Amino acid sequence: MVYREPEILVGLDLGTTKTAVVVAERDENLRDPQIIGIGQAPSQGIRKGMIINLEQAVDSVRAAVADAESMVGFDINQATIAFSGIDATSITSRGMISLGRTPRQVTIQDVERVIEAAQSELAVPPNRCTLHTIPVKYSIDGNSGIDDPLGMTGIRLEIELQTVIVPSSVVQNVINCVERAGIRVNGLVVKSLSSAMGSLTNEETLAGAISLSLGGGTTSIALFVDGRPVKLSVIPIGGDHITNDLAYVLKIPISKAEELKKQLSLDSDEIEYEDLEIDLRGKQKKVDVSEAVEVIKYRLEELFAEYVSHQLSDFSVHMFPAGLVISGGVAKTRALEPFISDLLGFPVRIADPLDSFQMPPGRNDCQYNSAAGIIRYITHKERNPYRYMETPLNMLRTGPSSVVVSPRKPKKEFVKPKKESVKNFVSAIKRSIKELF
Ligand SMILES: Nc1ncnc2c1ncn2[C@@H]1O[C@H](COP(=O)(O)OP(=O)(O)OP(=O)(O)O)[C@@H](O)[C@H]1O
Ligand SMILES: [Mg+2]
Repeated sequence: MVYREPEILVGLDLGTTKTAVVVAERDENLRDPQIIGIGQAPSQGIRKGMIINLEQAVDSVRAAVADAESMVGFDINQATIAFSGIDATSITSRGMISLGRTPRQVTIQDVERVIEAAQSELAVPPNRCTLHTIPVKYSIDGNSGIDDPLGMTGIRLEIELQTVIVPSSVVQNVINCVERAGIRVNGLVVKSLSSAMGSLTNEETLAGAISLSLGGGTTSIALFVDGRPVKLSVIPIGGDHITNDLAYVLKIPISKAEELKKQLSLDSDEIEYEDLEIDLRGKQKKVDVSEAVEVIKYRLEELFAEYVSHQLSDFSVHMFPAGLVISGGVAKTRALEPFISDLLGFPVRIADPLDSFQMPPGRNDCQYNSAAGIIRYITHKERNPYRYMETPLNMLRTGPSSVVVSPRKPKKEFVKPKKESVKNFVSAIKRSIKELF
């Protein structure tokens, strides 16, 4: 038998709060890769998932890579990158081709042709590029639910396609950032997909499930039906908004609000104290715990009622019997699971990475699903080249570009919710969510 060097796979998750690097090794028999190290560093220069300061983001990548290198004991020089942009959302299109007058078998060329037919329906604006092309459903002669059309016989082949289109400048900034840190970019994946890959079991994707990654600056969503993603999207709201709300309402510094947030529980039975003392440079400030919890709930309810429900509006909730699978740092909020499942009346599971048992303690919780999911994405793509198609990098590169920062919107004033209005608001939300679910 010919000896083959073990192959090293690297996933780099460019998050708003932290940059994470997962290193996996695959042995000569090409079995499933095993995770052998995870590096991480706090992210700088990234807001709402987007690079806003290239040099700072480059430093974060360097630090996370160095951390991973010290764990695995060798140099890392290539990676597949998970990232998000505000608009990293998938679009559905459909295509149809004729196979001839008499029935014949579907070939690879036919599959490529029908994908092109569906793509030709899409008008990609000049400042955007196609990142992922994902066939979701095939039909032959009107019979839908065909898993793989290759070799099957008919006269008409149809396809439903998900295409992820992202602003070219966002992609260019990500490539520039990682390459400046001395890492070759092997591929790119949107975070909604890598998070889902790191969180959802096969059974869940086949039954129908929603993956929701609640990160620092973004909430990434992936809807899976029959094992395929039928929608991928991102909402530019995350745990940082909860921290900012707490700081604003309680009039405490952001760093104190961040600490406080991690101590609170959404379950009133779990709340140990009515008040908490916060040390502000030697001065003690009393914080009403139930008021602070209301602020967190208020933001989460708004996120689900206004934003998440909007992403689900084209679907029936019955398409997702496996329920909602939540990951990301915000999933660590105490008693989040009963709170969300009460809010939605829908099964909810908080998910650590599927491969958490291979990951080092302290770096194997729900903050690392997207990073670990990159490795699963790489292997999925290799095994099913016609399921997850990525535009080749040389077609995404558009030459050197500077960091593009979207123009600042005037800051929306946070209106401190009055207790009564919170109650009314919550019951209105509950009604609207119940109607949806
Ligand atoms: N114990 C905790 N309780 C509540 N929130 C937490 C806890 N631990 C971390 N968080 C929050 O999770 C968020 C960070 O999550 P995560 O690491 O998944 O984000 P990220 O991947 O860097 O960001 P994004 O995916 O949005 O770009 C922060 O807002 C942080 O405050
Ligand atoms: Mg994340």
